[in-house]
Amino acid sequence: MSFATPALVSRLPRVGTTIFTTMSQLALEHQAINLSQGFPDFDGPQELLDRVGFYIHEGANQYAPMSGVPLLRRAIADKLRRCYGREADLEREITVTSGATEALFAAIAAVVSPGDEVIVFDPAYDSYEPAIELNGGRAIHLPLLPPEFRINWEAVAAAITPRTRMIILNSPHNPTGQVLHADDITALQALVEGTELLILADEVYEHIVFDQQQHLSLNRFPDLAARSFIVSSFGKTYHVTGWKVGYCVAPASLTAEFRKVHQYLTFSTSTPMQLALGDFLLANPEHDQQLPDFYAEKRDLFNGLLQHSSFIFSPSAGTYFQLMDYAAISDLPDTEFVQWLIREAGVAAIPLSVFYQQPPEHLRWVRFCFAKGANTLQQAAERLRAL
Ligand SMILES: Cc1ncc(COP(=O)(O)O)c(C=O)c1O
Repeated sequence: MSFATPALVSRLPRVGTTIFTTMSQLALEHQAINLSQGFPDFDGPQELLDRVGFYIHEGANQYAPMSGVPLLRRAIADKLRRCYGREADLEREITVTSGATEALFAAIAAVVSPGDEVIVFDPAYDSYEPAIELNGGRAIHLPLLPPEFRINWEAVAAAITPRTRMIILNSPHNPTGQVLHADDITALQALVEGTELLILADEVYEHIVFDQQQHLSLNRFPDLAARSFIVSSFGKTYHVTGWKVGYCVAPASLTAEFRKVHQYLTFSTSTPMQLALGDFLLANPEHDQQLPDFYAEKRDLFNGLLQHSSFIFSPSAGTYFQLMDYAAISDLPDTEFVQWLIREAGVAAIPLSVFYQQPPEHLRWVRFCFAKGANTLQQAAERLRAL
């Protein structure tokens, strides 16, 4: 006997298998070096890993408080003060979440109503738009154009309508490796002053900023922080992306609405991970400060080997991604070029066009992830240099 499954009308008809899954499968099939995946191929600090084991054996295995364990929220508050001079109230302004992904979704769900518009900048991280759509909102895509990928603030001003609820910013930016500059902050301040606009700041790569630049976190600017959900992820900072622990900092009134969603989305986040992170953050505040040099060495190794190759690029300013222009190697569209690259060079990358709703014409860029061991980066660069 067979039973019929009711037919569904998809709530996300345009969403399919992500390019990340596709490229990783292809890389596996062809035994290619995988620089497409956006995560490290090395582990987090041993002391941090040991603390998780410690807490599991101590019996810290039941639900954590909804807003996060006090130890970790205190460590986050300390970090905000130390890095950005922000005094955040850990009871009412800091919420620990199951990765930045949950925080992004909860912030959007908390404030976006049917018909609302949300400005996103393409190339955009792929979780923003589905979250906006599921809540009845509409993403207004503004392009960041090569080779600089900077925000055109006049275009932003022109895109704002009475329906605009929120602007989503991501700095340091995945996939371009760009960061916000002081003039971007000034333009943003002028744009939002006196309006009801909210900001969602995705700052998951906050500690991976190169060349002595300062990360311009919105936490530094009280006028912007007063209207922002600022989201980060421990996965990126401590090389533990699989733990999925992140957090959101927002003024008390925004946090109250944020927590209403978080409470019914996940309720709380893994207890032993939170406690271990709390201990590690408090004991090792220098870890964040060492991260730029740690990743700059990898960036410079990879880029150095490709300096006299046919790829054209300027060094990434932040994140662990490097964009490269391959126009001198091939005229294939990027989605075809990455497949060719796997077959011919045995290196997997991500095409840039998939991050755009409407990719600019003749886009010939790919993204490489350099959060990999030195041998892997060396081998990949040698293969790419031969093209
Ligand atoms: C820009 C950006 N935002 C958010 C996330 C998600 O972070 P998490 O793994 O903590 O959910 C990522 C992960 O790759 C990212 O690159």
